[in-house]
Amino acid sequence: MKNKIRIAIDGPSGAGKSTIAKRVAKQMGIDYIDTGAMYRAIGCKILENRIDLKDKEALKQLLAQTEIDFIDGTIILDGEIVNDKIRTPAVSKIASDASALPEVREKLVVLQRKMGQVKSVVMDGRDIGTNVLTDAEYKFFMTASSAERAKRRWLELSEKGETADLAQVEADIIQRDHNDSTRVLNPLKKAGDAIELDTTGMTIEEVTQKILEVIKWQS
Ligand code: DC
Repeated sequence: MKNKIRIAIDGPSGAGKSTIAKRVAKQMGIDYIDTGAMYRAIGCKILENRIDLKDKEALKQLLAQTEIDFIDGTIILDGEIVNDKIRTPAVSKIASDASALPEVREKLVVLQRKMGQVKSVVMDGRDIGTNVLTDAEYKFFMTASSAERAKRRWLELSEKGETADLAQVEADIIQRDHNDSTRVLNPLKKAGDAIELDTTGMTIEEVTQKILEVIKWQS
């Protein structure tokens, strides 16, 4: 495909990556791929099958029998749409733990690279610019203070009618940042050639416009 354009957006949880990535992709008329949702789908299956992450044989078997796809904003696990199931705190935790395992990363990175080879994409995650699409045409590293990220997450939960303690939400975010950025394999890290965007105090529209401005996209 000629003039293929790949946009990598990495950053910690709650920085607004998926909301922004979705908007940028829509404006450009290209696909959005949420790689976090892929780790979450595997986490969900591990939970449902009660697999112990230390049991490498069981994990390998499970992975060999797992099919994951991401089409039109929908995450599909073994033929089932699991968009809603993967957003629970239990899945967040297991996805973070499972994403540190080489077997899990290998499987998903191969899939993600294939997706980036055949079409133009906006892909968000933790290691897209540093590992999955190292030759992406544009790379962004999106951050925001942990207080702001916790506030956004807390508002999201409240809108869904769930009650949560703001301090606990922030503590969980800090813990996940630590897990994701200190793991040995492809940790959360800004690529040397990525543009850093601190979204603290910025609106969704402002961040979206900033990215479109960088890639000089005019609708
Ligand atoms: O973006 P998210 O919160 O939905 O991601 C879920 C977990 O998956 C997160 O703890 C980190 C991991 N992840 C990863 O290791 N690499 C990616 N490219 C995307 C997500």
